[in-house]
Amino acid sequence: MVRELIRLAAGMEIRAPDGRARLADGPVRVDLGRLEPGLAAAWERLAGSTEGAGATEAELTEAVTAAQDERALIPLQLLLRRLHTGGWLVRELRSDERPLATLEPLGHTLPALRGRAGARSALVLSRFAHLRAENGELRLETARAPVSLLLHDPGLAATVARLATPAPRAELAPDAEAAALLDLLHAAGFVVPAEEEAQAPLALWSFADLLLHARSRVGRNAGGYGGTYRLRGVVEPAPALKPVSGRTLELPAPDLERRQREDMPLAAVFEQRRSIRRHDDGDPISAAELGEFLYRSARVRQTFRDSLQELSARPYPGGGAVYELELYPLVNCCAGLEPALYRYEPGSHALEHIADPGPPVGLLSEYGRLTAEMETPPQVLIMIAARFRRAMWKYESMAYALVLKDVGVMYQTMYSVATAMGLAPCALGGGPADAFAAAARVDYYEESSVGEFLLGSRVADGG
Ligand SMILES: Cc1cc2nc3c(=O)[nH]c(=O)nc-3n(C[C@H](O)[C@H](O)[C@H](O)COP(=O)(O)O)c2cc1C
Repeated sequence: MVRELIRLAAGMEIRAPDGRARLADGPVRVDLGRLEPGLAAAWERLAGSTEGAGATEAELTEAVTAAQDERALIPLQLLLRRLHTGGWLVRELRSDERPLATLEPLGHTLPALRGRAGARSALVLSRFAHLRAENGELRLETARAPVSLLLHDPGLAATVARLATPAPRAELAPDAEAAALLDLLHAAGFVVPAEEEAQAPLALWSFADLLLHARSRVGRNAGGYGGTYRLRGVVEPAPALKPVSGRTLELPAPDLERRQREDMPLAAVFEQRRSIRRHDDGDPISAAELGEFLYRSARVRQTFRDSLQELSARPYPGGGAVYELELYPLVNCCAGLEPALYRYEPGSHALEHIADPGPPVGLLSEYGRLTAEMETPPQVLIMIAARFRRAMWKYESMAYALVLKDVGVMYQTMYSVATAMGLAPCALGGGPADAFAAAARVDYYEESSVGEFLLGSRVADGG
């Protein structure tokens, strides 16, 4: 016989001598007060810390009526609904004593369970659902709801596979185990009416975009969230500054005091800032200007440590001061600098030579030119790469989102500095990460491009 057991998620119940029913998970807390005898009996059956915890709804009903009377049954339904939408309940399907699947909450703001679908309506697996391996079992997840389902029985994967084609409930679930799983998947939002996801606003979302959004915010995250240092002791952290391996070229530092006296006011920088996609190759940007731009945008002012890792201070703000971004100026036309792909070394204010011009570097340049619809190659294309280990060693769930936020901050800083210097700036919205990794000879997963920025001299008419 297939049964659905309900229990409180482990480790969230607070047992205290005052007898109040309380739950806590980080900042989320619930105090249900002292429960009437009926609900107290149900609570005991639900509590994750008791031996053999968990009961079917029928067993909870029995426990309530045995301890009190039938008037406590409506409060039981309200309690179960509140516990479900608060993300405190785990549901486990069992066939006799064999565990089939466990539905776990991820956050604490869940939609109410959906009622069983009508016999004739066609159901399908949500296009935001995905199945992945985890410790020898399969985990079914969906970016549409803060829940996740562990499939203990590999045979049930066939039931999930059948859900790829829309069909009525009876066709999708030929036996009792499949029917119980289908009803749970439908109730929790993994399985949806066939047309539901073709409508706006869901139609706006691709699978990958919604998953990134869901995982990068608290509540639909799987695992820890924020600065958890989950890789501490497992993976070596990366130093604040990337070690230099190629030949370097020192850049002159600008006279910042003079710039602070003579630069245009901040209000003028913001009012005059705009994207300029034409460069004056007759009078190109100079090595001194590129050096000043990099110094004012991205140099390291100072390195220091917290208790766990090296950090640094730079002109632009960066999440957690971990500063994972690296700048790789791809120079096509710059007075006083040979064309090549360089890396800015922000600690010593120097350029490290990475690669000479050739097909891999040329391809990056061409992507940059096309993305901005420029007629000639950009004088300088600054590839922005991320050393992912810096962010991912510390942060969990939102690490990649944080990297992209840092790119936005970097863009704004670069626009501001370029405008103050009278240069032509333009951010780009996309580029080739694999081609960058090949040109810079870095491991894609360790470091690859996450942004790009065009820089050059302005033409006399402003571009
Ligand atoms: C994140 C981001 C991505 C951008 N991507 C591109 C791009 O791929 N190609 C391009 O020509 N301009 C790109 N731009 C520049 C915008 O088109 C530009 O900022 C916008 O049209 C407003 O014009 P303005 O910068 O002159 O004020 C991008 C700007 C930002 C901030």
